[in-house]
Amino acid sequence: MFKINDNYLKLPGSYLFSTIAKKVAAYIEANPDAKIIRLGIGDVTQPIAPAIIEKLHGAVDEMGHAETFHGYAPDLGYAFLRDTIAKNDYQDRGCDISSDEIFVSDGAKCDCSNIQEIFSLDNKIAVCDPVYPVYVDSNVMAGRAGDYDAATERFTNVIYMPCTAENNFTPELPKETPDLIYLCFPNNPTGAMVSKAELQKWVDYANKVGAIILYDAAYEAYISEKDIPHSIYECEGARTCAIEMRSFSKNAGFTGMRLGFTVIPKDIKSGDVTLHSLWARRHGTKYNGAPYIIQRAGEAVYSPEGKAQLKEQVAYYMKNAKVIYDGLKGAGYTVSGGVNAPYIWLKTPGNMTSWEFFDHLLADANVVGTPGSGFGPSGEGYFRLTAFGTYENTVEAVERIKKL
Ligand code: MLT
Repeated sequence: MFKINDNYLKLPGSYLFSTIAKKVAAYIEANPDAKIIRLGIGDVTQPIAPAIIEKLHGAVDEMGHAETFHGYAPDLGYAFLRDTIAKNDYQDRGCDISSDEIFVSDGAKCDCSNIQEIFSLDNKIAVCDPVYPVYVDSNVMAGRAGDYDAATERFTNVIYMPCTAENNFTPELPKETPDLIYLCFPNNPTGAMVSKAELQKWVDYANKVGAIILYDAAYEAYISEKDIPHSIYECEGARTCAIEMRSFSKNAGFTGMRLGFTVIPKDIKSGDVTLHSLWARRHGTKYNGAPYIIQRAGEAVYSPEGKAQLKEQVAYYMKNAKVIYDGLKGAGYTVSGGVNAPYIWLKTPGNMTSWEFFDHLLADANVVGTPGSGFGPSGEGYFRLTAFGTYENTVEAVERIKKL
């Protein structure tokens, strides 16, 4: 008789954003006339920029001719895209990263959930609390997280690093030594950011204790302040301890097109074995590469026209962030984030739990957000709103919340 991977049974409930989608669907069924505004999941609303669409059309046409048709993509990505990424995202910023250290994929969510596969099950992970649920859930599925303790709402074999108002929602070095450290800056869900000096502290720590930092920089395009690291490779020593993951979803609206990449410097080694070689082996076996047309579209993200158009798109969302931040602050809410990230993190009013506020907002303002407790126990009493809505909806949502 077959046996299932019963690590899956250790996961409490369904994936956070599936739970929210189900709740909203049930509400709409009961209230079909409700004009719902969705500021929950961080999905974009603006169309793909013209420079990218043009490139996409060209690539689609190429697929219709034998001379320019493309079958399986190279499993680590086309050289035209890897070279473009290495130059624009790293070398032009003074980071020592070469194009053969870039692994193109169908998105950062897959990469940050799959990357744990190349590490032993004996490794202990450390995560921020609150945290993007994918890091923890993927380790639970692999059997690395221990058991779920309902009393603490935590897994027994995970090091949680609370990110609270007291520490400006940035983690402190853990007391217990981890092997794998997940960091995400600009942060999802709190919108917090770290300075270069703070990030350097993490790189130094990881090199000292022999840990690997899994650095999720999906929201890099939203950094607006100066002296803030856009990549962990701006820190000295990161080549020996850090893996960085990036996405095209948030900076270029590829949530429905799927493209991302992971950087693994060849200097990260365990004995003679490089992590680079293991991830390359995994890609070769389990992945047939992101589609040619999508990689061509990704290339256009870095063209002068693409860059200019996407700068405007990011500015559009950041204007929404300001509307939410200023509007709620003016209405007496305690808010943070929204300056270097498209997420606003607010304290729920009164003594409402995150889910109580979710229900209240859905029923009384017809606005959907994300309960902070869904990201971890330290998120209880908090709530996340995304700036990825349309401007009109964002203004309307804030007006409705103010009236509550
Ligand atoms: C979020 O809302 O946290 C993100 O959209 C999730 C994701 O990017 O996978």
